[in-house]
Amino acid sequence: MRIDVVTIFPDYLAALDLSLVGKARRAGLVDLRVHDLRDWTLDRHRTVDDTPFGGGAGMVMRPDVWGRALDDLLPEPSGPDDTVGPGPAAVAAGAHLVVPTPSGEVFTQRRAEELATEDRMVLACGRYEGIDARVVERYRAAGHRVSELSIGDYVLNGGEVAALVMVEAVARLLPGVVGNPQSLVEESHGAAGLLEYPVYTKPPRWGDAEVPEVLLSGHHARIDRWRRDRALERTAARRPDMIAALDPETLDAHDLEVLAGLGWRATRDPRHPADSRYAARWEHVAE
Ligand code: ADE
Repeated sequence: MRIDVVTIFPDYLAALDLSLVGKARRAGLVDLRVHDLRDWTLDRHRTVDDTPFGGGAGMVMRPDVWGRALDDLLPEPSGPDDTVGPGPAAVAAGAHLVVPTPSGEVFTQRRAEELATEDRMVLACGRYEGIDARVVERYRAAGHRVSELSIGDYVLNGGEVAALVMVEAVARLLPGVVGNPQSLVEESHGAAGLLEYPVYTKPPRWGDAEVPEVLLSGHHARIDRWRRDRALERTAARRPDMIAALDPETLDAHDLEVLAGLGWRATRDPRHPADSRYAARWEHVAE
């Protein structure tokens, strides 16, 4: 995968030379290029921003400068359905333009998985009050895949830290980047829709704190069940929104029992109790 990041602070992205992403770059698994937006300015002061039309605080990034940068970096879009190749290994042709912004849709693990199927991604890091809105409109209208994404409900000084987050979350999903692909399967926000269970390592006794006995038992079925119970409890306590989003039909009787003990009861639409076209829902009673 090729990833281009455009920013007025290229040094911010230096962290991508470290750790797994840095290793993946050196191994040629990801072709990551960081560009200085000011290279596309034409004036002596290398100006990238100006005052907002309509008034208000702060500065807005100019569309002409971004337009020159993105015209250079975005390959031609290749049509509405430009996925090439069969099956899950399919790679989308063209590039996906990602604009980190606090007013975007939320960047989730599902978004990271989608972006990891792209052949190319271009990240446009805004600063100040953001990028002139015509930029996103222009590239969307020209047929590019464009996503404005927020990494959470807080405001950063610019898109660079969000770009670091997105590049790391996407790059670790590319084949070969994470040594043991099984570790991608079990982690939080994986397909199970649950947070990850607590983990322990040596020593088995640390002060008066012991590792749960079951984990030392070697009994894999019991360990799996214990871990799933802890994942359910943890998710119910920390992320009730994730429990509410679970499809009760995908849970086993033991899962349902654990959740019932935490006040979560799966119910069918009372008007259609036996009709599977009406999905089961959650009812939460506070303990
Ligand atoms: N830029 C500033 N704040 C941001 C956020 N929360 N997510 C993505 N980009 C941002």
